Amino acid sequence: MGGGENAVAQTRPEGRDAARTHGPGISDTLGAAWRMPPMRTSMPMLPPLMRLRPSVAPFLPDAGVDPITLPEAVPSRIVKLSDGDTLALKASFVRRRIGGRSYVMYAFNGQYPGPLIRVPQGATIVIDFTNRIDLPTAVHWHGVRVENRYDGVPGVTQDPVPPGGRFVYHVRFQDAGIYWYHPHHREDIQQDLGLYGNIFVEPLDREYFGPANREEFLVLDDLLVDERGIFPYGREAATHTLMGRFGNVLLVNGEPAWTLDVKRGEVVRFFLTNASNTRLFNLAFGDARMKVVGADIGRFEREEWVSSVVLAPAQRYVIDVRFPEAGQIALENRIQAIDHYFALFYPQVDTLGLVSVSTDAVRENHGSSFEELREVTEVMSELGPYRSHLKRAPDYELTLTLRAGELPLTVRQMMQLDTLYFPPVEWNDAMPLMNYVSTAREVTWVLRDARTGAENMDIEWRFRVGDVVKIRLHNEIRALHPMQHPMHFHGQRFLVLSQDGVANNNLVWKDTVLMPTGATTDILLELSNPGRWIAHCHIAEHLEAGMKMVFTVEPPQGS
Ligand code: C2O
Ligand code: CU
Repeated sequence: MGGGENAVAQTRPEGRDAARTHGPGISDTLGAAWRMPPMRTSMPMLPPLMRLRPSVAPFLPDAGVDPITLPEAVPSRIVKLSDGDTLALKASFVRRRIGGRSYVMYAFNGQYPGPLIRVPQGATIVIDFTNRIDLPTAVHWHGVRVENRYDGVPGVTQDPVPPGGRFVYHVRFQDAGIYWYHPHHREDIQQDLGLYGNIFVEPLDREYFGPANREEFLVLDDLLVDERGIFPYGREAATHTLMGRFGNVLLVNGEPAWTLDVKRGEVVRFFLTNASNTRLFNLAFGDARMKVVGADIGRFEREEWVSSVVLAPAQRYVIDVRFPEAGQIALENRIQAIDHYFALFYPQVDTLGLVSVSTDAVRENHGSSFEELREVTEVMSELGPYRSHLKRAPDYELTLTLRAGELPLTVRQMMQLDTLYFPPVEWNDAMPLMNYVSTAREVTWVLRDARTGAENMDIEWRFRVGDVVKIRLHNEIRALHPMQHPMHFHGQRFLVLSQDGVANNNLVWKDTVLMPTGATTDILLELSNPGRWIAHCHIAEHLEAGMKMVFTVEPPQGS
């Protein structure tokens, strides 16, 4: 398919009333037509922009059966596995009820999120995966230092699993903590439609975390819907490649109104994962203090109090929260929204759910240990020595930038108007029309090796197991429309040494680092896992728009 005329011209957007005749029922194939994206009504409708449509055909999942016959998705269940166990994992169509409406979506084992896999540290499990959706797919074990051939990256470590196909993964979990799994093939569609789940690797050390009354696993996400159902995706290439696809329904564990009942005085350990395509969350539980204890791959050197926690796509945080008084506490997303048309910033608070604290006191009171901030001596002695790399020059430098030359002139002009101010982070979709018509055909997000000039998949760095390399990432502000990028490295772990020249005084192993607009960040990548891996931006639409590169890790010398 060629330019902007195809596919799109025949499916003229209908008015809101026409849309309403499809009713609040299950989104059907009539839903797969381009129309104006949902947006805040205060945004002016600029005629030249309103006529624009993406250069690709609209896509919505098609089960090939009456949606009413699809199984209704159920909430996530915990699957406890031991070393050597096998889990049958199936990606398939489901009906999902969200906010009183039904949608055709995807799920792992019919659950939203997919099954929560609980394994002891050190275990290896077998995942017998079958694909019963209408697209090729694969499963990636995010943050897990898996054997390279099970990393689930089509085109790099495996072929995509075709519809009807099967692939058996062997996954070993050497690091304790919270991980997640998701497809690595058109994840802008598949992950967005529900294909994701958590993995909790139980630490061998029983005192690994401080005492808590319970553990809760929260996956944050969002979904873009309008009157006709789920807003279509791009068939041949991803849409929304400028800012990524922001949803207008915020979800916690797949629910628009998440709830939790606790007893007065309970200390709850929350394992947070951001599974959204592009949205960052800034989470707070009312005015409750939150104690941050861990992140992507393990614990911080020191526990710290925070009033809110920022999660970029793919990042995880482990936080302890105590609820000392009876009543209701809102789980909120507190952001600084932007309106690019009026150059306005405005605070926005969305309530994602409610914690109801009963008047009965919890039996086991961890109040006093909760007040203590632990210094984790094992982590300090493990990570502290890496600070010796702080002052030395970087081994590699990577520039993050954008090429948007193929966009329609109107869009480019609008983007240029917008270069007067750059927020470090875009928390919302401040230009939904320009964003949605910008597909991966017109937009290329770029990782550029500053030394060689090589870009994206032309970059192939070579390392050896045991190497520790310092990489300077720079998110270029001169780009036409700069944006933050959560950068993820596969198969390894790294430390964030410094950002904008400020040394990080509380280290933790990570696999995804948020690069705000204009930021320069030094990371120290530990090469521990041989194979050919990718590094990329974890905004699903930026990945689709090219923002990925390769690095090879040779086995240790003499092996
Ligand atoms: Cu969450 Cu390349 O992965
Ligand atoms: Cu990005």
